Amino acid sequence: MAARKTTVRAPKPLVAGNWKMNGLRGAKKEINALAKKLSKLDRLPCDVLICPPTPTIALLVETAKGSKVRIGGQDCHTQVSGAHTGDVSAEMLKDVGAKYVIVGHSERRADHGETNALVAQKAAAGHRAGLISIVCVGETEAERDAGKTLSVITAQLKGSLGDDFDPKNTVIAYEPVWAIGTGRTPTTAEVGQVHTHIRKRLVARFGEQGNGYRVLYGGSVKPTNAEELMAAPNVNGALVGGASLTAADFYGIISAYL
Ligand code: 13P
Repeated sequence: MAARKTTVRAPKPLVAGNWKMNGLRGAKKEINALAKKLSKLDRLPCDVLICPPTPTIALLVETAKGSKVRIGGQDCHTQVSGAHTGDVSAEMLKDVGAKYVIVGHSERRADHGETNALVAQKAAAGHRAGLISIVCVGETEAERDAGKTLSVITAQLKGSLGDDFDPKNTVIAYEPVWAIGTGRTPTTAEVGQVHTHIRKRLVARFGEQGNGYRVLYGGSVKPTNAEELMAAPNVNGALVGGASLTAADFYGIISAYL
């Protein structure tokens, strides 16, 4: 389908923290500290989200109540309920007050063999429950070295998004696998190239609405490089691992938008 001309406004950025398998109940002090810092701002030009491990979600939703911090999950099952030992449904996340769910993170794709088709089903499960699904894509180092970055991203987007998805219920996160937890990042130009490619694919598929999707960059985002990375074309926020674990570092990244 040919892309139509756009009149959709640039989306409000989202700065999201993925705590991965880190943080006990005591981590609530970081949520309190973050909430306090954000409360001092008259206006917050981006949305702020923390996705802690499942056992602390309910506690941290309570901790964040009344603040500008939203809480989300890191994964969900495709089904509402049933015989799926160890899994958590999107409805359960919603029930305890989560607003978002990350799906298809490269660690889940690698550790649990998650395919694009499964990721699309999980994202749809998030929508069914009333959550915003953050769908992750990204190339490995070998794929980048082989010059396959854009074709890998194209295939991941095609398979991991449903035709009925829209910018209100879905966020895209571009996370080059080789940049995760390594301290290495693509250059701003490389980030801009991939994000612009993602935007074009979204517009080609969803028409004008494609411009409304938030496309986050993730992979070794720190307070020291956030401003530069967030300034790349078509970057609408960050998905942050290690540097989201302390309020001080995470606020340093949010500051790229202040
Ligand atoms: P790091 O910020 O620790 O590189 O992790 C990125 C990530 O995987 C977020 O989902």
